[in-house]
Amino acid sequence: VADDLRRAGFAVFGPSRAAARIESSKAFCHDVAAAAGVRMARAGAFSDEATAVDFARELAATGEGVVIKADGLAAGKGVTVCDDAGAAEVAIRALLAEASNLPAAGSSREVEGGAIFVIVEERLYGPEASLIALADGRDVLALPPARDYKRLLDGDRGPNTGGMGACSPLPDLADEEAEALLDAFHRPILAELARRGSPFIGALYAGLIRTDDGTVLLECNARFGDPETQVLMPRLASPLGPMLLAAARRSLRSEAWNAGIRGSLLPTFPGAAVGVVLAAAGYPESPRRGDAISGLVDVTREGGLVFHAGTRRDADGTFRTDGGRVLTVVGRGADLETAANRADAAADRLAFNGVQRRHDIARPFVHVGQGLAAGASR
Ligand code: AMP
Ligand code: GLY
Repeated sequence: VADDLRRAGFAVFGPSRAAARIESSKAFCHDVAAAAGVRMARAGAFSDEATAVDFARELAATGEGVVIKADGLAAGKGVTVCDDAGAAEVAIRALLAEASNLPAAGSSREVEGGAIFVIVEERLYGPEASLIALADGRDVLALPPARDYKRLLDGDRGPNTGGMGACSPLPDLADEEAEALLDAFHRPILAELARRGSPFIGALYAGLIRTDDGTVLLECNARFGDPETQVLMPRLASPLGPMLLAAARRSLRSEAWNAGIRGSLLPTFPGAAVGVVLAAAGYPESPRRGDAISGLVDVTREGGLVFHAGTRRDADGTFRTDGGRVLTVVGRGADLETAANRADAAADRLAFNGVQRRHDIARPFVHVGQGLAAGASR
């Protein structure tokens, strides 16, 4: 769509098909990162089961576990974090069996022996952060760091999901530290994409993890993250629209300057935002649709900010569940604790049959340790 609109003469905030491969192909992302000197997990890309399994065994031999990913887009369900080689083998087989049922368009890059379907990665450990930046092909302007809680259950247990909650700011990564992370991750990637003739214009999302050995890029997305964006928008102190237009027109730096922005961070209000996702019964495997939702009017009246994702409305005005992640309710406050308490209280008042949610988003509020930016390395 972005390509068509640009050809038709519109200013577009959104990457070209070529630049969006930074998200749509994990193999492409690894390739660009390597060329840009950006650190990612050690990984291999495979089309063939036997060689993928061999590589998984080699990585698992360290005892650290392995992560198996589908190369293409997989609606947040393409990643399996495995404890050992046995689990990795099962995940590799499942992905390749699924891939053989897909049209070839599901793959993204031709290599000797055919298309890539599976990425096998070393498993890394540490706190994660999402850093989203507006990009105009060359320059960047960052939203504050946020954290996505990806596992279904409290204490980071259960399967990976599209995201069960989010918070910003982070107790272990000050907003200002984003400057150093932009230098280590976003800017080199933008430069490499531009060098390849596909400059990235849009929201460039970096999923980062702080290991004992430095901060590493886990993934790039070519868009705002969900549910991070639901907690980021309420924090912004200046209008986003003009900056999106400036990025689309490739004049981010000068427009930001004109708007009084010094440095590379969008200005924020003091205070915090915490979002809790309400997911349908059966999510993520087989979400149930059609359950009536109550409490929406009350929560909104009391200052909760409710984002609809998987809902529909009956003729009589009743909202019903209509997807896996149904709602995100955001609480705001002077600090994370106040915001989290408000989000939890609001989530308590929203109800539908079989609702699933976490109760530990943004908790604990104090994190002891070195900030993510401290370990950023190229
Ligand atoms: P992705 O779609 O690549 O961001 O993966 C989703 C989630 O899976 C990440 O946010 C991590 O929690 C987890 N994950 C992905 N890659 C790794 C890895 N190499 N090591 C540990 N966890 C990972
Ligand atoms: N929060 C991660 C994503 O939007 O993919």
